[in-house]
Amino acid sequence: MSTLSTSLPGGTWTLGDLTVTRFGYGAMQLAGPGVMGPPADHDGALAVLREAIELGITHIDTASAYGPRVTNQLIHEALHPYPESLHIVTKVGATRDEHGGWPPARQPEDLRRAVHENLETLGLEVLDLVNLRLGNAQGPQPGSLAEPLETLVELQQQGLIRHLGVSNATAEQVAEARAIAPIVCVQNMYNLAYRQDDELIDELAEEGIAYVPFFPLGGFSPLQSSALSAVAARLDATPMSVALAWLLQRSPNILLIPGTSSVAHLRENLAGARLSLSDEELAELDKIGR
Ligand SMILES: NC(=O)c1ccc[n+]([C@@H]2O[C@H](COP(=O)([O-])OP(=O)(O)OC[C@H]3O[C@@H](n4cnc5c(N)ncnc54)[C@H](OP(=O)(O)O)[C@@H]3O)[C@@H](O)[C@H]2O)c1
Repeated sequence: MSTLSTSLPGGTWTLGDLTVTRFGYGAMQLAGPGVMGPPADHDGALAVLREAIELGITHIDTASAYGPRVTNQLIHEALHPYPESLHIVTKVGATRDEHGGWPPARQPEDLRRAVHENLETLGLEVLDLVNLRLGNAQGPQPGSLAEPLETLVELQQQGLIRHLGVSNATAEQVAEARAIAPIVCVQNMYNLAYRQDDELIDELAEEGIAYVPFFPLGGFSPLQSSALSAVAARLDATPMSVALAWLLQRSPNILLIPGTSSVAHLRENLAGARLSLSDEELAELDKIGR
């Protein structure tokens, strides 16, 4: 496993004391439509997870809110007992309503319940890394994160969580979090076309903190750009490959968690992320989100 992992595009990164492949896997879209309920193809979902491990991926991103519980249960069914090298990253701070919405759930009791639900559904005694998800479906929102983060610090002190991160956070919230506890990663929306966090990424890189873009391929509406398609065509690659290779080259602290429910797309994305983009191609791609 370890020999395979180091041969993945981008190599590895260390989150606290956990080494992960920079090319990871985001499991959210394994649940049913709208991230609610079971997948249409249960065995297909298990096959994607098993293939991720076979390929050498050692970082899977999930949350008990996905499904809810469905994605974690799939991970458990496909991969438990987990290989020692695998690190499963979860998030807490949002729940699901009957319409499939994602209302915030950041009261101390919500967070305690969510941590225990993640432990139980994943079949773990300790969660490697828990992201505190802030803001709402519209994106980050200003405001103090002290109370919810302190609740997670308590759970960490009880031995239920190894490392902490924040998600959907403003730069001010990241700074506030870092003043309260060691933060090993920030998981925010970012991709070739959505570049709100450029400055934050560079700052975090200097501090040795990982930046994990969610929606690296555009999320529910995959990236579409004529400039991206033109570069991809010239390289005889897919636009998705170019988008992932660009992220890996954008900064060494960027970790990828692209989602897919297809083994073929998983293989294609991993192979494609190896692309080496020239300065000229990078400059061309840079214009898309600026
Ligand atoms: N912290 C947060 O608030 C937050 C929010 C959203 C997501 N996340 C995390 O971020 C991860 C990634 O986000 P995401 O999965 O929603 O979005 P994404 O990785 O940007 O895109 C996934 C979409 O791209 C498609 N896709 C993947 N590879 C493809 C290929 N080679 N060709 C064509 N289409 C392809 C997938 O469809 P197929 O299934 O057909 O391949 C899927 O619809 C999630 O799994 C989740 O863990 C976190």
